[in-house]
Amino acid sequence: MIVLGIESSCDETAAAVVADGSLRSNIVAAQLDHTAYGGVVPEVASRLHERHIVPVVDQALAAAGISVRDLTGIAVTYGPGLAGALIVGLNFAKGLAQSLGLPIIGIDHMEGHLWANFLQGPPAADCYPYLCLLVSGGHTHLWQVDGVGQYTLLGRSLDDAAGEAFDKGARLLGLGYPGGPAIEAAARSGDPQSVDFPRPMKGSPKCDFSFSGLKTALYHHLQGLSESHRREHRHHIAAAYQEAIVDSLLDRLHQGVRQTGLSRVCVAGGVSANARLRRRLDAWAQSENLTLSYPPLEFCTDNAAMIAMAGYIRFQAGDRSPLDLEVNPNLSLADRAQG
Ligand code: KG4
Ligand code: ZN
Repeated sequence: MIVLGIESSCDETAAAVVADGSLRSNIVAAQLDHTAYGGVVPEVASRLHERHIVPVVDQALAAAGISVRDLTGIAVTYGPGLAGALIVGLNFAKGLAQSLGLPIIGIDHMEGHLWANFLQGPPAADCYPYLCLLVSGGHTHLWQVDGVGQYTLLGRSLDDAAGEAFDKGARLLGLGYPGGPAIEAAARSGDPQSVDFPRPMKGSPKCDFSFSGLKTALYHHLQGLSESHRREHRHHIAAAYQEAIVDSLLDRLHQGVRQTGLSRVCVAGGVSANARLRRRLDAWAQSENLTLSYPPLEFCTDNAAMIAMAGYIRFQAGDRSPLDLEVNPNLSLADRAQG
């Protein structure tokens, strides 16, 4: 089975090929044009997806050494994300599928992130159950995964997502977009103990997250400083802010382990690229005797490899989507899993 995966939910146009359960190619065209605006501009994103989709798919097929005639199915992100951006990928997938007589499968972008830890092949049956922390720009979810399509939501952010906390914090600090890599870079030379920011939800018996109070604390802290002090101490403030996000994520994950008794933990989504988070996770997993995994860096942020693998796994399970599938910008894995 050879699956082409297509991803266009936000500002990356991406295509990848998974053949017989292993990744054969992965092409991502990132849209740097948004940097100047400090965030993603939806119409700019749609137009750039339109420009990139054909060359990106061509490159993914060429890199895998196949032609469209070798494909057995197409997997495509149909939500959540920007409507105009999703439509470009989904319509392209539908047209290609119809012309070749191939099945399509619509993939929830977050389910794609969930499978980014298994790009070397679908998990063996004895991997289940495990915990998966999904930390992206729009979502922060803690899942128990019992099998393909068997996901139980243990906790979610009650307000901002962890990635959003990085992005909004970076804006307050006058750092660039996207905020995560910018804060990480600034924090490298900073002292994480320099400011005592709150650790939202720390110690809560549930597994939920919250980040908006932390962002407000950063705002108030900055308000109390002179412009020159802010500029001079930006790396220290960034380090302390990042540490508060990391501490909070670790505490919630630890609560999930305590609550479920599970010892296998996966982390995925853009924020899982954060080096400080990874270092702290590694130390925690070692001290608690846990099996921990996160994707290689390039598969933490948006890509189509995870969509192709999720599609491969879904096709193997016998799932298909109708050709009149529509995008769903508000698609929620959490709502669907809760029934
Ligand atoms: O998963 P992703 O690429 O897209 C969504 O599905 O949202 O995640 C994007 C988020 C952004 O908020 C970005 O700031 C954050 O992931 N991010 C990071 C890092 N790289 C990306 N956050 C912290 N540290 C990073 N190195
Ligand atoms: Zn994503």
